[in-house]
Amino acid sequence: MLSAESTPEPRPEYTAPEPPAGDKTHHFKSSAHFVAWVRGAAPYIHAFRGKTFVVGLGGEVVAGELAQSLTYDFNLLAALGIRLVLVHGARPQIDAEVARRGLEARFHNGLRVTDPATLECVKMAMAVTRFEVEALLSQGLPNTPMAGGYMRITGGNFIVARPVGVVDGVDYQYTGTVRKVVAEEINADLDQQNVVLITPLGMSLTGEIFNLCVEEVAEAVAIAVKAEKLIYLCDAPGLLDDEGRLIDSVTADEAEHHLQAGEGLTEDLHLYLPCAIRAVRRGVARCHLLDRDKDGALLLEFFTPAGVGTVVSRDPLFRVREAQVDDVGALVALISPLEADGTLVRRGRELLEREIDRFSVVEYDSMLVGCAALYPFTEDNAAELACLAVSTEYRRSGLGEQLLERIERRARRQGLERLFVLTTRTAHWFRERGFSEIGPEALPRLKRELFNYQRRSKVFVKSL
Ligand SMILES: CC(C)(COP(=O)(O)OP(=O)(O)OC[C@H]1O[C@@H](n2cnc3c(N)ncnc32)[C@H](O)[C@@H]1OP(=O)(O)O)[C@@H](O)C(=O)NCCC(=O)NCCS
Repeated sequence: MLSAESTPEPRPEYTAPEPPAGDKTHHFKSSAHFVAWVRGAAPYIHAFRGKTFVVGLGGEVVAGELAQSLTYDFNLLAALGIRLVLVHGARPQIDAEVARRGLEARFHNGLRVTDPATLECVKMAMAVTRFEVEALLSQGLPNTPMAGGYMRITGGNFIVARPVGVVDGVDYQYTGTVRKVVAEEINADLDQQNVVLITPLGMSLTGEIFNLCVEEVAEAVAIAVKAEKLIYLCDAPGLLDDEGRLIDSVTADEAEHHLQAGEGLTEDLHLYLPCAIRAVRRGVARCHLLDRDKDGALLLEFFTPAGVGTVVSRDPLFRVREAQVDDVGALVALISPLEADGTLVRRGRELLEREIDRFSVVEYDSMLVGCAALYPFTEDNAAELACLAVSTEYRRSGLGEQLLERIERRARRQGLERLFVLTTRTAHWFRERGFSEIGPEALPRLKRELFNYQRRSKVFVKSL
């Protein structure tokens, strides 16, 4: 129980794991495994640097056993250049304070009625909880992951509120709703590398204080600051299907069906899912529902291909689009291992920059995971499909096929009648998709003149 008078529970002390003598990589099967793991995280680090993540965490999380390790993960995200806004709740802390003062907690339609006496409890519990979070975020003992990782925490009058008013004849009094988020000020704080911590209390233009819901504030802030991600830490691993299996991604429309069906939704999901749906429909790229009881959930969700929770997005997660100059770095990272092992012909960064308009790419959750290029030979009414590649972790999901379809569509739109491809290792993949083998002499003249016989590529063609 948390109140101003209560003595806070001592936090479990962090003990840095002791490596066995002479083995500094004992957590990993080998040093190669460690190196591969760190390198594997690099594309995510590039993708998320400078992006804004808004995290909604209920009071249960702050009081929970994982508060300490979660703080380490926030610290790491901030250190990796992610702009972090944390919105903390205090529901159990308010309940405890209401009970301690011998008051009766009143709810209508699941929303607390905040009378003047309850408002005092709300202010007390919110303030104490906020200080607890600030204290957690200020740790820096030498043998912890936060050593030397000072985070400047800021907050302020960023939320303008108005009263909910009278509903079904019930006056909610000091229970409020978000009227406006002062996004410019939050962004100005984030620009200075501060972590913004928001307490769900809103001030009204009349100078009164209103009690707000953590999930609504997190949603409103994410929309206002145009966040890349809104994250809710909840009492479930994410959305589950009828058989209790985790659903890893849903569109807003699919999430709405789950909400209407209502089955298997926990208390938190009932509250958070509508916010997630609204947020992605109003411009937040993704909303992630993660298990508040899973240690390292944030790291597993954002730095591994499979993730651990449910992602809500407005549109399906994979998106095929035309490439832009900004994609060159990610393209180099995607294709250079395939150039190194001889699967793809080597292209330098400069060539990619010059020819970027020829590329279509497939993006997953803001990361570039596949590409293909179209080289037209208009005098022969033909085009070459080149540099088709899908990142290893995302293969066998039909992305190669989607890229092929995109390239075929682009070629048809240019009035071209044949699509050919040169391949050393992927002959069957093309055959299974309607290509047939031809000799190099049947290539368009310009291509034939450049054909490298030593590479011994097979030539395949498909009529469009
Ligand atoms: C070829 C490639 C683009 C396919 O991407 P993808 O997203 O996995 O493709 P899809 O999901 O649409 O198709 C997967 C199917 O292709 C098969 N496949 C993958 N590589 C293959 C190959 N080299 N030869 C034959 N079939 C292959 C898979 O086994 C799978 O079929 P299955 O599920 O029935 O077993 C991908 O494997 C890749 O990037 N390879 C390395 C680069 C390359 O070879 N590019 C072609 C250069 S011309």
